[in-house]
Amino acid sequence: MTELDRAQREHRTSEGSPDGHRLPPGPAELPVLGSTVAASRDALGFAESLTTHGDLASYSAFGEEFVAVFDPEVVETVLVSRNDAFEKGDFEMAFGDLVAPRGLAFAEGERWRRQRTALQSAFTPERIRSYADEMVAGTAAMADDWADGEVVELGDAFASLTLRVLTRALFDLDFDAERGAVVREATRAIGAIMDRFGLLSFLPEWVPTRTERRYERAMADLDALVESLIAERRGDTADRDDLLSLLVAAADADETGMEPEAVRDQLVTFLFAGHETTSTALTYACWLLAGNPEARERLDAELDAVLGGRDPAFGDLPELDYTERVVREALRLYPPVYSLYRQPRTETVLGGYRIPADTTL
Ligand code: HEM
Repeated sequence: MTELDRAQREHRTSEGSPDGHRLPPGPAELPVLGSTVAASRDALGFAESLTTHGDLASYSAFGEEFVAVFDPEVVETVLVSRNDAFEKGDFEMAFGDLVAPRGLAFAEGERWRRQRTALQSAFTPERIRSYADEMVAGTAAMADDWADGEVVELGDAFASLTLRVLTRALFDLDFDAERGAVVREATRAIGAIMDRFGLLSFLPEWVPTRTERRYERAMADLDALVESLIAERRGDTADRDDLLSLLVAAADADETGMEPEAVRDQLVTFLFAGHETTSTALTYACWLLAGNPEARERLDAELDAVLGGRDPAFGDLPELDYTERVVREALRLYPPVYSLYRQPRTETVLGGYRIPADTTL
């Protein structure tokens, strides 16, 4: 950040109107620490407080300059219409390093395009249709297991369900409880380290915290699991065309820009991206329905009218209009991925404000 930027930051006020030269307004901050304490004590509360400054708010924390973007049009500009002007950036990539840096979610440019094209064949409409069968079968089995009146911890139940569906659909595998537990523990350990992520960057690397030790152990177990999945599939002679087989074959043929080590990262990407998100979404949807009997009745009425008591199938989706609206509203109110990070490649203007190149959006 230049001296000019610093001076402007110090003089900004929430009344300042956008003129393309000014940084977005933001909270009053301590020297050096900026908003680090507030952002790490209660990340969501801090994010909510930023909305009082307008559609864009700038702050500094963890030694980085941030601009939070709340305006959907500006979000669209960054992620879609001018996406070439932005990269995932240091902050997002630091998350990537914790999980799967060579996986699709953290790839950029031509490398991303090649990987994405290679993986696309696992997501054709016919494939999605067959995944729907796994989803229905898995969900029916789970519900059959519950007794009337039983109290169920939905977060765990849905995480087991979505992990089972994901591994059956994408890897053509039945995960036993032990393998499932390795993925769940890695998910929790990464969650714990991400919660403390910014703060950890203030500690010298030679200070191992309990959270870091837990993360190291969980990732070692996960790596061993993923290695055994790859080795088992390499030794498997059956003719399979699921995502796991596709990845192993792609790495062996070296046609996709996916170096062999990247197979580990792709598998980890799908294990995490595909199960925690969907189980969080289901958990919030059910929790919201539990508190809204009217919506619950309308949902039940639609399911009765369309399905008449049978299990749903992929072809029923167009008829399940209210059901879709319930899911979308739950995703809107409690998005499982509620923050993404991008960085402008060069200084730019967003929402009428000046955004320096090294800012994390
Ligand atoms: C409610 C469920 C889900 C939500 C809310 C969600 C959310 C997201 C978001 C916001 C991104 C963009 C991240 C970024 O650009 O920085 C993303 C990317 C991704 N998601 Fe999901 N996701 C969900 C389900 C899934 C499932 C079921 C899978 C796998 C079967 C999956 C696999 C991926 C992958 C591989 C990427 C990276 C895609 C790319 O960069 O081309 N997600 N997801």
